[in-house]
Amino acid sequence: MDSTPTLCRRRSSASERAKEIEAINSIISGKNVLITGGAAGLGHAFLNHFLKHGTNKVIILDIDIETGKRIELGIEKSCGEKKVHFIHADVSNHKRMTEAFEEASSLVGNIDIVINNAGVLDERRWEKEIAVNIGGMINTAMLAIKYMSKDAGGQGGILVNVSQHMNIRNTAQLPVYTATKHAVIGLSESLSDPCYYEKTGVTVITLCPGLTETALTIDSPNKLLSRVMKADFVKNLEQFSIQTPYVVAQGLMTILRIGESGSIWVIENGSAPYEVYVPNPQALRRHYKNNFSHVEIKVVKGRPIREVCDNSRTGLMSCA
Ligand SMILES: NC(=O)c1ccc[n+]([C@@H]2O[C@H](COP(=O)([O-])OP(=O)(O)OC[C@H]3O[C@@H](n4cnc5c(N)ncnc54)[C@H](O)[C@@H]3O)[C@@H](O)[C@H]2O)c1
Repeated sequence: MDSTPTLCRRRSSASERAKEIEAINSIISGKNVLITGGAAGLGHAFLNHFLKHGTNKVIILDIDIETGKRIELGIEKSCGEKKVHFIHADVSNHKRMTEAFEEASSLVGNIDIVINNAGVLDERRWEKEIAVNIGGMINTAMLAIKYMSKDAGGQGGILVNVSQHMNIRNTAQLPVYTATKHAVIGLSESLSDPCYYEKTGVTVITLCPGLTETALTIDSPNKLLSRVMKADFVKNLEQFSIQTPYVVAQGLMTILRIGESGSIWVIENGSAPYEVYVPNPQALRRHYKNNFSHVEIKVVKGRPIREVCDNSRTGLMSCA
């Protein structure tokens, strides 16, 4: 069922759109932005939108030297000035990332917005997925906070961490990729705690795109743990409608305008962004007909065993 509120689906009038663009410009205009994975896919679409909304300078940090340099030169030619700087760095390499942030800050001065976007999908090389999608995201987030933090001489700012639309029922073929993207939510939610914001002035937002047409998605059927999974995976993908990176970038601009620290935003099916929240754990608790009321600890062969008494069913259930 389409749960998008009617308000979001209604076509906005030309004057409403003009007002929205003006409001976005007022947030982004004159700001310095750093985008990891900015040479392709979503990162490249973000770059184009930042430029469109009057950003001062954009740093794209990527492992793809050839494309990065081509983008840097192409934009310099079309704008007549150096708006984009490419920095070659692998987000999973902490030492290189530390140097890259130093280089970025000496190129543009204050960094105001960081889009923590670089990610890979390759279940056959899941150690790399963990290194880039978790290690790289943590490296970028920590350095972003260090450079933007008011208590370290920065001016505050916005950090956007890119996760994925959290449909955990359809990820059987992507267990490690999914785990890494769930980790991003934990990272964001922790770093957005008011105890950090008071000191740093850095707003931390999570972006969860749905299926989007990029190299990552197109290559994904060939990046599964086993070829046997490919048919099911492709069938799963076909259930979703695929959106363009442009729509996600457009949605991100609105999120930067209205998103509060700790907020989590989904953009799927080419629709306007909507906010989701992490439910209270109490609301997630599974209730049984006869709630396990009685827990005993027994020692069996020298090991303590917790025995949970479920009176309505088979008697004692053990959980070591
Ligand atoms: N495409 C989707 O459907 C989708 C959905 C949800 C979330 N995402 C997430 O969005 C982000 C961007 O994905 P995309 O679809 O644009 O992918 P993409 O493959 O099109 O682009 C990724 C970019 O990141 C760069 N990159 C890869 N590893 C890097 C590293 N170690 N260091 C620096 N740069 C590196 C690549 O060179 C490339 O330019 C990822 O975090 C991905 O997990 C994508």
